Amino acid sequence: MKNRVQILHGVNFDVLDRRDPEIYGGLSLTELQMQIKRFAQEFGFEPTFDQTNYEGAFCETLHKAADTADGLVLNPGAWTHYSYAIRDAIELTGLPAVEVHLSEVDNREDWRKQSVIRDVCIGHVQGKGVDGYRDALEMLRKELGE
Ligand code: DQA
Repeated sequence: MKNRVQILHGVNFDVLDRRDPEIYGGLSLTELQMQIKRFAQEFGFEPTFDQTNYEGAFCETLHKAADTADGLVLNPGAWTHYSYAIRDAIELTGLPAVEVHLSEVDNREDWRKQSVIRDVCIGHVQGKGVDGYRDALEMLRKELGE
């Protein structure tokens, strides 16, 4: 059974609890990851977690992902909107990946409406807070087989 899922958070997620609670919910990264872990276990996934503020490190984690994961849940933060390097690294994994955003990026500033990673992901979820990760895991479960 393909059940290894890697959940990657990008830039500024280490300080999630200091970001606008109206937009991001006021959770810390650890609390967010604990909740995602519960969702993942409900689906029978074995989750692993990573976060970095360094774009190159995010790419290097993706380079190794094909050996360590069967599917990816990605919230690269602001990199989503402009990092072609991350987009290419996602494509290189050959893994099913779901793009997640806590906030509704399509209803914020114009520059957040663009995602350069969407075309290399099997789906995306936005504006549902922590529950969006559950939806993302459900998409992966379907993609990887029940
Ligand atoms: C975010 C949305 C991005 O636009 C922003 O830069 C973030 C968080 C979200 O989860 O809503 O850092 O990815």
